[in-house]
Amino acid sequence: MTDSLSIRDNRTGKDYEVAITDGTIRAADLKQIALDGDPGLATYDPGFVNTASCRSAVTYIDGDAGILEYRGYPIEQLAEKSSFLEVSYLLLNGELPTSSQLSTWTHDVTTHTFLHENLKQFIQGFRYDAHPMGMLMASVSALSTFYPDASNISDADNRQLQITRLIAKMPTLGAFAYRHGLGKPYVYPDNDLSYVENFLAMLFKMSEPKYAADERLVKALDVLFILHADHEQNCSANAVRSVGSSQVDPYSAIAAGIGALYGPLHGGANEAVLRMLRRIGTTDNVSDFIAGVKSGKEKLMGFGHRVYKNYDPRAQIIKKACDDVFEVTGVNPLLKIARELEKIALEDDYFVSRKLYPNVDFYSGLIYEALEFPPEMFTVLFAIGRTPGWLAQWSELVQDKEQKIARPKQIYTGFRTREFIPMSDR
Ligand code: CMC
Repeated sequence: MTDSLSIRDNRTGKDYEVAITDGTIRAADLKQIALDGDPGLATYDPGFVNTASCRSAVTYIDGDAGILEYRGYPIEQLAEKSSFLEVSYLLLNGELPTSSQLSTWTHDVTTHTFLHENLKQFIQGFRYDAHPMGMLMASVSALSTFYPDASNISDADNRQLQITRLIAKMPTLGAFAYRHGLGKPYVYPDNDLSYVENFLAMLFKMSEPKYAADERLVKALDVLFILHADHEQNCSANAVRSVGSSQVDPYSAIAAGIGALYGPLHGGANEAVLRMLRRIGTTDNVSDFIAGVKSGKEKLMGFGHRVYKNYDPRAQIIKKACDDVFEVTGVNPLLKIARELEKIALEDDYFVSRKLYPNVDFYSGLIYEALEFPPEMFTVLFAIGRTPGWLAQWSELVQDKEQKIARPKQIYTGFRTREFIPMSDR
């Protein structure tokens, strides 16, 4: 068997042969299929539903089988046996760290958690009701002005320094944005604490000299960060890569990823799920709500995925984490509605025939709420967890010799070459 595709252009009767590599053809190879004077054949693919934009060795997903692996390690094993900083190291470096590599990495991240005081003032400038995702996006982008050296993206040591800074400072920025909304004083990082404990301390500490978080809650949040750490070429990773392809500094590229994540079809879905569950109110209203979804009036938020046509493996793990968290915090009453929605949807032909299953966002919001986060903070938590994945994707992009500045084609549907009409004649 030859790994090639034979194409006949029925407009001209000409035959072409195009190489197939790794199950793909090169879109540029189609350019040779051209009518006289025409730029050649292109593909039309809104939303990149069947177009590979890069080669990547970071994350593997088999959506039909419900498999997710980071650098070849199944998500279930990482969630059970690893920690978020260890998984971050794995995503960024390709291998699990040795014990000394992990302590150096943990030390490096821990010693970069503080923000420049001017950045604190920048955050203070937001209105009292500013959405924390808007604050996070703006302050990450502002970081690029504090570290102008970050524009030197061709230097590996320099890239590593910015990566460490970003992973270290995201929880501080997220916590400051949260405290700003409450009008509470910002809590500075405590470098004696672990990554997650320090984040919880910056969020919730009041006058106590040392913040002590419940170990089970620390573990649950660490697992949630692991589950969110990467998801191959999703909307925000694509935004990071697209903006990064202009060779801008990583803070600007990650700010673009945060913007993409903010949307309700992406990371904003967990916030939307919680609002949806509150609106449904009681299990008695579930069947009416499902009828509304089936008639196209609204969406069942937290269901469906571009890639998973099976149960999202992250949702399975989160369901288990829910039980652990509720053991500490008491059961969230919305859980009953979520379980009823899931039960009905998994049996209903509308959802079954479209292969719509719960995704990562369906249960994560319930945990976040049990941990006393307001819904506006949910996507911030997602962003903190996703930062190592964005940076691994960005790092891979900037070292990939095949990558070019992102610049899709269009099919132009507008007017051509019109004569300008003076204002008096319009
Ligand atoms: N509720 C009701 N119908 C749905 C839903 C849903 N949540 N998701 C998809 N459908 C229907 C859709 O209307 C379409 O039906 P039809 O064929 O009759 O037109 C069919 O299923 C295929 O959907 P699609 O919109 O073509 O699928 P997509 O791959 O473009 O969109 C999605 C994927 C995640 C944007 C979509 O499923 C959705 O909007 N889900 C709700 C939002 C959500 O939970 N997002 C979080 C995604 S996971 C976290 C992350 O990675 O960010």
